[in-house]
Amino acid sequence: MGQRSGSGRCTVVVGCQWGDEGKGKIVDVLAEGVDVVARYQGGANAGHTVHVGDEEFILHQIPSGILHGDRRCLLGNGVVLDLLQFFEEHDALRERGIEVDGHVGVSLRAHLLLPYHRVLDRASEAGAREKIGTTGRGIGPAYEDKAGRRGIRVADAADSHRFEALLAEGVQRARLHLERLDQTVDEAALEEALEASRALRGRIAELAVDTGLEIDRALARGENVLLEGAQGTALDLDHGTYPFVTSSNTTAAAAATGTGIGPTRITDVLGVVKAYTTRVGNGPLPTGFDPAMDERMRELGGEFGATTGRPRRCGWFDAVLARHAARVNGLTGLAVTKLDVLDSLDEIQLCTGYRMGGELVEEFPADTFGLEDAQPVLESHPGWKAPTTEARRLEDLPSGARAYLDRIEELTGAPTRMVSVGTRRSQIIRVG
Ligand code: IMP
Repeated sequence: MGQRSGSGRCTVVVGCQWGDEGKGKIVDVLAEGVDVVARYQGGANAGHTVHVGDEEFILHQIPSGILHGDRRCLLGNGVVLDLLQFFEEHDALRERGIEVDGHVGVSLRAHLLLPYHRVLDRASEAGAREKIGTTGRGIGPAYEDKAGRRGIRVADAADSHRFEALLAEGVQRARLHLERLDQTVDEAALEEALEASRALRGRIAELAVDTGLEIDRALARGENVLLEGAQGTALDLDHGTYPFVTSSNTTAAAAATGTGIGPTRITDVLGVVKAYTTRVGNGPLPTGFDPAMDERMRELGGEFGATTGRPRRCGWFDAVLARHAARVNGLTGLAVTKLDVLDSLDEIQLCTGYRMGGELVEEFPADTFGLEDAQPVLESHPGWKAPTTEARRLEDLPSGARAYLDRIEELTGAPTRMVSVGTRRSQIIRVG
């Protein structure tokens, strides 16, 4: 066997906070220069909002690269594919005139998320003493089935008998589990959703591909590939604020296992951070604001969940978390988003460390429960009080905004490659 050929660039875009960093916009901008865009983890819990002209698209499963016409958009094996939601999104895009036929492929190895996973998710949250605040999309139970080696994969959809048998087993197991949780089920709704899922079996089988092989071959032809992460580093199953995390590895290494390429195929890792911090769902947020400021930032930044509509909690930029994210993801660059949201503030703070039990902590701690009581060590920056939305080069920014970005870069240790200053595609500063 010879050495691997191929000179295409393979870039991972990864969230470096608690999700909702604006990855959809960054992926949308980068998709211009690539041939293939692939999702590598998560499912319909993600919500990527992209503005094209006056239109808004919220994508939950299909990569936002689809909005660019002739890109190939893949869902890798690391994704849990919600069959009903997937085709709802797929068909809605088609109805809005977006070309989907021939552009979307799903991994043969991806696990299917079925209606009972959602029921189980909600039931286990309802019965839990310590609630995670999940999106209720069935993500945890679907990954549990995968790790428990009882999941149904896209590859199983090609065989109607096997699919039916596995589905019957899945439903039976879910019913037993729900009985144990003492939860009642809306039988009619579940049956209806199962019937709708059965009807989609043939359609998903038609879209099935080996994503690792397809991406590897694209790179070998010199094509460029974008691997799109969902959620963020602090929601990673291993490196986040466990147990207040999602059920997959969101970090960059998962882009290789979650699509089926070797890690040495990845050439760039772009970390996305919002110029401040938000979190939706439960768990610690060390830089969280007091209620009045929280409200103000939520309004300024439109910080409501794209998937659930829940209000996001807001706080100052947390450089301890960003540094942790830079290290565990091996960032080669940083994209700072929503800088313009800070334009009207008199003072802007950022967190350089935590006080925990009288000690100064500068590395993101593994003990999530200790983090609940962490006091942020904050550094104050004067607000620039001027619009940044028209800036297209760093030099166009007010000096205060540049100083703030320089400090983020210094504390994070990754070079700034992009700054987003508004929701539109054109509102972006590219560096270098
Ligand atoms: P799950 O992924 O639905 O199981 O939810 C687990 C945690 O991850 C909860 O705190 C959710 O609010 C959070 N979460 C999941 N997806 C996203 C996302 O796309 N953005 C922000 N938070 C998310």
